[in-house]
Amino acid sequence: MKPISLTNKKQDEKDKEKQACLMGSGEVPAHIAIIMDGNGRWAKSRGNIRSFGHKAGVDSVRDITEACAQIGVRYLTLYAFSTENWRRPQTEVNALMRLLVRSLRKEAENLNENNIKLVTIGQIGRFPATCQQELKEAMELTKNNDRLHLCLALSYSGRWDITEAVKKLTQQAKEGKLNPEEINDQLISAHLSTAEIPDPDLIIRTSGEYRISNFLLWQLAYSELYITETYWPDFRRDELYKAIQAYQKRERRFGKVFDNNTHKKKADSYVQELTS
Ligand code: FPP
Repeated sequence: MKPISLTNKKQDEKDKEKQACLMGSGEVPAHIAIIMDGNGRWAKSRGNIRSFGHKAGVDSVRDITEACAQIGVRYLTLYAFSTENWRRPQTEVNALMRLLVRSLRKEAENLNENNIKLVTIGQIGRFPATCQQELKEAMELTKNNDRLHLCLALSYSGRWDITEAVKKLTQQAKEGKLNPEEINDQLISAHLSTAEIPDPDLIIRTSGEYRISNFLLWQLAYSELYITETYWPDFRRDELYKAIQAYQKRERRFGKVFDNNTHKKKADSYVQELTS
């Protein structure tokens, strides 16, 4: 496997140790989804304009993508632009579009060299032609990669996603191709924009807001949530490791009752830890 080189900085030994420790201490989530929030406030706290925060946010995107690939996360979904974000001032929307184009031009080759596949969910057709073209090229270039799926949610909202799935299913029913009685969880999941992606195991939100903000509404049914006060431009790999450590301590029950064996195993390992 080619070494990761998304950043120029030499990966220090300490980081490798932290990663080994994380991978050895429990399950690494297969799919992490992130609500990247706080760019504006980060910039404001430095007396700068909001776009400055978005620019710094791209460095976090790079660092988190690199770290996820290194520790074996298979899917990383980033809420980069929500349907509601179109209501922001035109200057900010334009700056975000320019940043997206510039980042794709700069990083597409790196993603490819590191076996990372770029995919998108959302209404890409609403984006300017240059953005669509750049996305198309980057996705084409990386389409055969399989180390990490980097999924950008662009002009995305959970309600839009569910509405589109409902439209597709009702159309099939109207054409007599689907009996409404056959509609179930799996069929709905298969008609969402995330049909090819497993549901997220861990959802991270930065900047201390306790909201889902119309993100993966259907898909998050059993996701673990992790909220940090840290603004997105300051959310780097060490913060990611903290979130994963918190995830590893959670008991995922998927609605079932606590299994006594799991209880016992946990208690045994706790006693072992205390006595060793
Ligand atoms: C939220 O912060 C962030 C966004 C709406 C955009 C996120 C975009 C990037 C990190 C850069 C582009 C991404 C890629 C994938 C190249 P906010 O503006 O809502 O901050 P605030 O809550 O402090 O106002």
